[in-house]
Amino acid sequence: MIPQSFVQDLLARVDIVDVIERYLPLKKSGANYFACCPFHGEKSASFSVSPSKQFYHCFGCGVHGSAIGFLMEYSGLGFVDAVKELANQAGVQVPDDGKPGQNALDDGNAKLVDAMAEAARFYRDQLKHAPEAIDYLKRRGLSGEVAARFGIGFSPDEWQALQRVFPDYQSKHLAEAGLVIDNDQGRRYDRFRHRIMFPIHDRRGRIIAFGGRVLDSGEPKYLNSPETPLFEKGRELYGLYLAQKAIRDASFALVVEGYMDVVALAQFGVDNAVATLGTATTPHHITTLLRHTDRIVFCFDGDAAGRRAAWRALENALEVLRDDTTLAFLFLPAEHDPDSFVRKEGADAFRKAAAGASPLASVLLQELKERCELDTAEGRARLIHESRPLVTRIGAPMLRLQVIKSIAEAAEMTQTEVELAFGFKPAAPPRQSFQKQDFKRGPRRTEPLRPQGRRKPPSTIGTLLRLILQHPERAARLPIDLIPDDSAEGRAMIAIIDLVSLGEPIPAGGLGALIERFRDTPHGDTLARLGTEQDESEFEESVVETLFEDTLRKLQGDAIAREITELLELSKQGALSAGDRHRLSELLLEKRNLASAGKVSDL
Ligand code: UTP
Ligand code: MN
Repeated sequence: MIPQSFVQDLLARVDIVDVIERYLPLKKSGANYFACCPFHGEKSASFSVSPSKQFYHCFGCGVHGSAIGFLMEYSGLGFVDAVKELANQAGVQVPDDGKPGQNALDDGNAKLVDAMAEAARFYRDQLKHAPEAIDYLKRRGLSGEVAARFGIGFSPDEWQALQRVFPDYQSKHLAEAGLVIDNDQGRRYDRFRHRIMFPIHDRRGRIIAFGGRVLDSGEPKYLNSPETPLFEKGRELYGLYLAQKAIRDASFALVVEGYMDVVALAQFGVDNAVATLGTATTPHHITTLLRHTDRIVFCFDGDAAGRRAAWRALENALEVLRDDTTLAFLFLPAEHDPDSFVRKEGADAFRKAAAGASPLASVLLQELKERCELDTAEGRARLIHESRPLVTRIGAPMLRLQVIKSIAEAAEMTQTEVELAFGFKPAAPPRQSFQKQDFKRGPRRTEPLRPQGRRKPPSTIGTLLRLILQHPERAARLPIDLIPDDSAEGRAMIAIIDLVSLGEPIPAGGLGALIERFRDTPHGDTLARLGTEQDESEFEESVVETLFEDTLRKLQGDAIAREITELLELSKQGALSAGDRHRLSELLLEKRNLASAGKVSDL
């Protein structure tokens, strides 16, 4: 765990404008900076960076966040790696989280990273002097330029070639990095011999593993690095580092099975492909890709193994599906893999095929229906039986509903019957009239940030948030009871007051830092939305105190009004106790006092 205090200090130290400017050219306009949004294709600059809020926001697609959030989105890094990257850029040391070996940045791994880089240099260099390897690559249609882009190399046909670049050939780091193998007799030799070498990069471009292909028909066809502290197969995707930009530009990622598929596609100008590394596509792979894009097209080989791989990918995708993402499957003719297909049919044909890939839900339904004989009662019952474990795992609620409807239709059942069979509570019919409890404990919604064509009138909580960001110490003066907890905004404000009352300072790094403090809670999104709806400028100092007091009075007035309404409701039902009646008259009096104490400004 990286301590929250470190994250906050880091955010207070960096300027989000500098951070983003490393990746995007920003233009200043008024108080803010603008660029074309890197997260969705566009020609106008609707991506804004606010130095005062330390916050970025795209009016087009709604992405938003702090400097850390930007690095996560832009580079596809996880939270911890994004913090480390930011710390690195700011030249500060991340406190040790006490779990060495967990992350590729840890010092223990630096030696391994160096060794991998050194080995890769050696293999690349060897390729230049190996006509048989160059011939092989040429025969497979690769240009020198693409081979160089992928850092392809060659391991010579020798037992200890690496000794030439590692004078300390016995170093334990070489074994840990998986570059050498120690046999039973304690003799050490190179793992990769006489193979075309494909370096595998992590998302920041460091080499963490190799895949080595035989030149002839030897076995195994591909030899890969073992799992090492640097390399965990189920997490890494071959080619992702190089494909990141192309994935964003093409607005989708292509997942294929083989090293050669990625390289051959790139040779033909299809640069947005990545490959799993001889493993099934894991939920982790999919989550990683969904950080870069919201559309993934799986294109596996046209053979039976390819179809099995597609089904495994589908199963593993179910739980990480979201309603705003599309996963689709492209099934090539049986004799092809992406490499042979693009060679034979060309890049345009391939792109066209990818655009027409079948969406996950239809592949799922198709396969389920094929497994069952739907013209018999047994077959239709079987459909329900087989689909249950799959459908219940679909993480996207709307898509799940759609699939249930289709299954109901195919099984000749009603939607409710299917839902009951799956063990779901069938959706309640829409309510006729507005009832108070709907409002009180409604489901938590995360609404997208609205494009800001017209600004909403500021809400009371919005004004409070703005005041607190300007003068954090004021949060301590907010009475928690007055904040209504029936809205996401209210609950977020309560969370802020909770922080303060527990003695934690309000983050000094503006809105970006505050949102970072509430990462992984529903409040983060709420505050982001609230923040973007607010006016950019700070309040005039002379009015801050009056405004703050007015806002408090308004909250007080609202609280009183709420309680009065409740009591009047009871009274209508004849359920008012003597105590209630007393309270009601008290409240009415308070209300009058409040009104005369100062005209409540219209906030
Ligand atoms: P393929 O056999 O489809 O490889 O295996 P390919 O990429 O099309 O290779 P070429 O075209 O014959 O050169 C797909 C992937 O499965 C893994 C590799 O990651 C390979 O790219 N694999 C395959 C292995 O790890 N070991 C093997 O022996 C074979
Ligand atoms: Mn192939």
